[in-house]
Amino acid sequence: MAKCVKLFSGVELPLVGLGTWKSKPGEVQNAVKSAFSCGYRHIDCAACYGNEKEVGDAFKETIGSVVERKDVFITSKLWNTKHAAVDVKPACIESLKDLQLDYLDLYLIHWPYGFVNIGENFPKNPDGTIQYSDVSLMETWGAMEKLVDEGLCKHIGLSNCNSKQVAEVLEKGRIKPAVLQVECHPYFNQERLINFCKEKDIVVTASSPLGSPDRPWAKSSDIILVEEPTLKAIGDKYKKSPAQVALRFNVQRGVVVIPKSITPARIAQNLEVCDFELSAEDMKKIESLHNEATGRVCVPAIEVDGKRVPRDAKHPLYPFNEPF
Ligand SMILES: NC(=O)c1ccc[n+]([C@@H]2O[C@H](COP(=O)([O-])OP(=O)(O)OC[C@H]3O[C@@H](n4cnc5c(N)ncnc54)[C@H](OP(=O)(O)O)[C@@H]3O)[C@@H](O)[C@H]2O)c1
Repeated sequence: MAKCVKLFSGVELPLVGLGTWKSKPGEVQNAVKSAFSCGYRHIDCAACYGNEKEVGDAFKETIGSVVERKDVFITSKLWNTKHAAVDVKPACIESLKDLQLDYLDLYLIHWPYGFVNIGENFPKNPDGTIQYSDVSLMETWGAMEKLVDEGLCKHIGLSNCNSKQVAEVLEKGRIKPAVLQVECHPYFNQERLINFCKEKDIVVTASSPLGSPDRPWAKSSDIILVEEPTLKAIGDKYKKSPAQVALRFNVQRGVVVIPKSITPARIAQNLEVCDFELSAEDMKKIESLHNEATGRVCVPAIEVDGKRVPRDAKHPLYPFNEPF
């Protein structure tokens, strides 16, 4: 079982959870069951992953028998088309229904900016650009707070937000964000944002903690974090794999990791990162892998003349134009 970190509420969040993005409906059910069997108690879901019904089938089979509801921590995320205040509660209820749960432990706003709600996850204009909505982050946050009041979720939080957006919610909101989920791994280690969140008692969860080698836009020429020679050399010393070293790097900084896998042996391996400690010197070596210019890989983008360019960079709420 993974160690936990305490949220500001006092509730414990396991430092290792299972990611479910890209896990196909036929695969995700077994992945979740396999994770619970080997000791995971934290699953990261989202409506836009298109597999919450199958995750829910796995919950139905296991919660109350293999695990107790009170012992598991389940996260879901509000998709961009549901940012208007009127759409937030129905979206949460749909996720709860699909996941076959009465409440979520954590509900995150998936991205700070919204899209119009016309029945598609990625509504487009005739020229192929996204149809954005002009809903403010605080309108959505206010509706998220009501979900807590009504007992539909225990905590609410943010995802893919920069420090200024987190600060705005802290300043203007009634309920504090418990978690900020952002891409975080040795190639993009988020040091400044993590320090900012630590000061505010907000837990950071690392999405794509293994560098998301199966992201749909990965090219065969891209460098692969789980094959990084520095991580391999460090892992050899501790008898751990490069993936385990990458996960341990975050866990040792108090950052929660949610590696995705559909492979039982890897699911088990990824949980075994709380039984060793990287030396200060090895932590420094891993920190030196950070690359501000190229390290971030999960950026919504479109192809222009064969190159990937950020899709949403001109939106006023686009988070990655700020230094952190
Ligand atoms: N908030 C957001 O916007 C956001 C964005 C991205 C991700 N996320 C969340 O974070 C989770 C993790 O991120 P991710 O899915 O992008 O990628 P990831 O966890 O960084 O990497 C997943 C890939 O690594 C492989 N893998 C898993 N364990 C391994 C190991 N021990 N050794 C070698 N390879 C291993 C998996 O293969 P197999 O599955 O074939 O075993 C899969 O190809 C997501 O699933 C999602 O829940 C959130």
